[in-house]
This record gives sequence, structure tokens and C-alpha cells, in this order.
Amino acid sequence: MKISIFGTGYVGLVSGLGFAEMGNQVICADVDLQKIEKLNRQEAPFYEPGLEELLQQNSKSGRISFSADIEKAVTESDLLFIAVGTPEDEDGASDLKYVLQVARQIGIHMNREKLIVNKSTVPVGTIKLIHDEIAKALHERKQVIGFQVVSNPEFLKEGSAISDCLRPNRIVVGCDDPKSKEVMTKLYKPFFPKDNPGLVFMNTASAEMTKYAANAMLATRISFMNELSQLCELVGADIESIRCGIGSDERIGPHFLYAGIGFGGSCFPKDVKALLKTAEKKGVSLGIVREVLNANEKQKKNFFAKVKSFYNGTLSGLHFAVWGLSFKPGTDDLRESPAVEMVHFLLKNGAHVHVHDPVAMEKGRLLFSQDAAIYFVDDPYKAVEGADALIVITEWKSFKEPDFARIKSLIKEPVIFDGRNLYNCAEVEALGFKYFSVGRKS
Ligand SMILES: NC(=O)c1ccc[n+]([C@@H]2O[C@H](COP(=O)([O-])OP(=O)(O)OC[C@H]3O[C@@H](n4cnc5c(N)ncnc54)[C@H](O)[C@@H]3O)[C@@H](O)[C@H]2O)c1
Repeated sequence: MKISIFGTGYVGLVSGLGFAEMGNQVICADVDLQKIEKLNRQEAPFYEPGLEELLQQNSKSGRISFSADIEKAVTESDLLFIAVGTPEDEDGASDLKYVLQVARQIGIHMNREKLIVNKSTVPVGTIKLIHDEIAKALHERKQVIGFQVVSNPEFLKEGSAISDCLRPNRIVVGCDDPKSKEVMTKLYKPFFPKDNPGLVFMNTASAEMTKYAANAMLATRISFMNELSQLCELVGADIESIRCGIGSDERIGPHFLYAGIGFGGSCFPKDVKALLKTAEKKGVSLGIVREVLNANEKQKKNFFAKVKSFYNGTLSGLHFAVWGLSFKPGTDDLRESPAVEMVHFLLKNGAHVHVHDPVAMEKGRLLFSQDAAIYFVDDPYKAVEGADALIVITEWKSFKEPDFARIKSLIKEPVIFDGRNLYNCAEVEALGFKYFSVGRKS
């Protein structure tokens, strides 16, 4: 199939490579010229395990190309994917300007019948807005060309985006006509074993809502455990034991039950807010969902307060080593990262910060380019040298089994604040550290 994808971010680029890998001819189009130039040099514009190899293989085979020429991307393909950002607007709703820009460009350049597939996360009703925007542009050109718009929300996870894309556990498609259903089935069939087609068809409103329901459910599990973690600290219970105790119940399952400093990233906070906004517009109060966000904010503040109260409310002049900057391991994405918030908090309180992250240093340097009190250190142990405490925020594998003796020999005061419950309390304390984690006795 001939496919064009508008937006070469995490979703657009990874999906484009996935389709190319299955033998389709793909054009990835973006308005960001620098990104296109980078991709044409076969360089990945962001960190994602396995991305660069897949990019090089498919570029060399000629199955994928990159272009800023939107007209060419519209005219040359039959299947047009929208995968642009849908950031939060001032009042928490989803800002659809990029999605509708692409829709307009499609209407302006459409030369023959097309199937338009929306992958961006959008509120219920957006498929109709995309349809209307394209129809309006065609009408202005006095053109009558058939087209359909379907919803195909994306569930890939940063950090494992390539394997999620190549081996999805399901593909959700919202579509109302049999022809589009047939095309989507043909497109996704190679991604599944022969006897398990893995496609879930529904109407477009349900598909749009499924994406928000998934993210709100996952965020709810995290906030639930985070709220319990605060009670655990007061009653002498251990949230990690509780996680094991309930996670082994197959009705509950083990995933997304890890208490910590709170969730971040480009999706959970924004999508939960957008869902609340949709409900508000319809006069529905989603009380549970609202509390998921409140609990997340509280959780971050509690952790910051834990650090501050240990120093009797004054962080000025102190030196902290911070391990981890990305919002989760496996990515250099800093959007809504709790680690970034932690660093801002420390800097605002007059502390010096020595940061180490295995892959997000370049993005970190750009983000904090105006701050003189932050240093980016390539070696995690160097970051700890002379520090008043180590603060661990992102659960990178390389932070899980550190050389505590080495840390102790380098750090000024043996104090660790662990925002992800990576270490065994008794072991770390036995080594002479003062150790603070989340929802556990310290
Ligand atoms: N990042 C994730 O893990 C993830 C997972 C599932 C769904 N989503 C959703 O997918 C969508 C895209 O997310 P992302 O993280 O890939 O975004 P991103 O910010 O990484 O990339 C978006 C890209 O779209 C480009 N763009 C903007 N306007 C354009 C236009 N008019 N024409 C062509 N390109 C244009 C931007 O230059 C940018 O490169 C969002 O709605 C997001 O919520 C993201």
C-alpha cells in the first residue's frame, strides 16, 4: 500500500517504520525541516530503543522516505495518516489546531479517492471535524472526490515503541463503512499471527474514547497506589508488599501498581485533563478521574516536601545529585517529567544540582540552558561526588543495582531520596545510608 504519515514524532515515525517494515511504501511528512533533514541523513530525531536500526534498514531499502513537501505526501499515497501533536490548550482541553491543519492540507491537495486515518489522540467528535475540514477545502476548490475518515488511536509506549508497534496486542479501529474496514484489516494483518487478527472494530466515537479510557485507567491505578502509599507511611505498612499482595490476584494483575513520585509524560496528564474537559462540556462529572490528577500533584509535592523537611526547610547552598531526567526509562522525552519538576524545585530553593541521565542529557542541557546552578554529568558516580544527598527519580535499569560502597565513599552525606522505590530499605540502611522512599518505613 502507498501510505503517507503527517507528523514524524514518536507516533508518526514509529508507525511509518512499522508499515515500511511490513513492505508498504511510506512517506513520512513533517513541517519541521530540521527533523526531515536529520531523518534523511538516517539519524533518529529522538531516543527510542531499536529506532535507528529500523530507520537505516528501511531507508536503505527505499521503502520509507521523508519529506517536508505536504502536497507530494497527499497526492502520492492512498492512505493518509494524521499523527501530529494534540497538546493541552490553556483550559486543559485538547488543542486540535495541528490535526485540523493537516486535514485542510489534505483537502487542498487531494487528487483522488483517499482513506484518512487519524492516529492523534483526540476527543470524541474529532473525526467529524476532520471530515468537515477536508470537505470544506474540497468545496472551495469545487472538487468532488470521495474520501473516508477513520479513527485508529495509538497505544505504543515510549521506551518500547518499536516492539509495541511491530507486535501490538490489539489495534483499535473506529470506522463505519465496510470498505475502510477491509483496507484497515489488510494493512494490519501482517502485524498479527495468522490465527489471531487482533483488530477491534467499533464506531468512531468509541474508538476515540477508548484511547482516553485506557490512559485514564492506567493513571488511576498509579494514583490509587500513590494515595495508599501515603497512608502506608503513617501506619507502618509497606506499599511494595501490598503491590505484590494484590498484583498476584489475577483479577487485578501486576501492571501499573508501582507507587512513586507520580506519573508524567506527554500523554497521561494531558489525556486525563482532556477527558475531564470533554465530560465537563457534556455536563458530566468524572469525580474519580479528577482525583487521579489531584492525587498525582499531591504525590509530587509530598516527595519534594520530604526532601525539604529533612533539611529543616532550607535547601539553599546544598548540593544534590539527581539520577534520571526523562519521564520514564527508555526515552529522552522530558515532557511533564517529575524529574524535571524535582530539579526546578531544587533550583528554585537555591540548591545546586548535578544531574545524570543515560540518554536525556542533550535535551536536559537545552531545557535548563538558563540555569547556572545545574551541571550535567556523564558519569552517575561523578554526579554524587561531594553531594549532600542522592535523589533518584527515573527508574533506569542502570540505577537499580548501584555500587553503594562507591556512592558512600564519594557522597558528602550518606542520604538517598528514592522516588521509585528501587532499593531494599534494610540493605541500604545497613550500609549506613539514611534512606527515604515512597510508602515504606524509613
Ligand atoms: N508519544 C506517545 O507515547 C504517544 C502514544 C500514543 C498516542 N500519542 C498521541 O499521538 C499524537 C502525536 O504524539 P507524538 O508524541 O508523536 O508527538 P510529537 O510532538 O513527538 O510529534 C508531532 C509531530 O507533528 C509535526 N507536525 C505538526 N504540525 C504538522 C503539520 N501540519 N504537518 C505535518 N507535521 C506536523 C511536528 O513537527 C512534530 O514533529 C498526540 O496526539 C499524542 O497524544 C502519543
